[in-house]
Amino acid sequence: MSRISLYNSDCVKAMHNIPDDSVDFILTDPPYNLGNFMISRDTNLNKMRENFFGTAGWDNLEYDEWVKAMDGFFEQSARVIKKGGTMIVFMAAIKVETTIQLAEKHGFYYKTTGIWHKTNPMPRNMNLHFVNSTETWIYFTYKTRTGTFNNDGAVLHDFIETSVTPSSERKFGKHPTQKPEMLISHLVSVLSREDDVVLDPFMGSGTTGVVCKKLNRNFIGIELDEEYFNMARMRIEAIVDET
Ligand SMILES: C[S@@+](CC[C@H](N)C(=O)[O-])C[C@H]1O[C@@H](n2cnc3c(N)ncnc32)[C@H](O)[C@@H]1O
Repeated sequence: MSRISLYNSDCVKAMHNIPDDSVDFILTDPPYNLGNFMISRDTNLNKMRENFFGTAGWDNLEYDEWVKAMDGFFEQSARVIKKGGTMIVFMAAIKVETTIQLAEKHGFYYKTTGIWHKTNPMPRNMNLHFVNSTETWIYFTYKTRTGTFNNDGAVLHDFIETSVTPSSERKFGKHPTQKPEMLISHLVSVLSREDDVVLDPFMGSGTTGVVCKKLNRNFIGIELDEEYFNMARMRIEAIVDET
């Protein structure tokens, strides 16, 4: 049976409750620091999408403040992760280099940057420019050059293709950047083992927790926003433990 611990809090604050060297895998999707950029471009997204992340209020830090917040997150991550542990951080392509530098400063070993390709993105302004259909994820290990990698002999590409989050995964409410379970499930299956401790400090609607419970991983999830936190708690509680 999975052990699940959830905190409705700022992640750096809540991570102080997690013992040193106790987490096997950190999988997280922090704010990309794109909110102000998107609003300044006046893309009309808030009129086109009922829950546009730029106006949701959780990705509006100035760049320097965002760097400081991410530095605090990596500092705590380095403290709680085990030597040989793995970390995946979803990030906007234009912030990948900054993110790698911050993680390396705290002892993480950079392995690669992968792509998530959405097969059915919203075809917004499709006759004016390329439709945005990708996000990046950055893969690190901690203080070692390799970590858990359950490929069962298969060649695994750093390119993952899925549909966007289906409505069947949004029964408890909508989060503007909710990741599909299929994407997160692939990463959890390959990069952790049953009974491992998985941490998502920016859990949003709780996708990582849902997947961990389905795959028998222990899970620690942290979310600042109360509405998203409750959504995540309900989603995770609704999964019947199979063991
Ligand atoms: C990109 S979303 C994560 C979405 C998630 N992957 C999902 O599938 O639903 C980032 C989340 O981090 C939360 N957040 C922002 N700053 C935070 C902080 N300091 N501590 C904890 N959570 C935070 C936001 O409220 C938002 O829900």
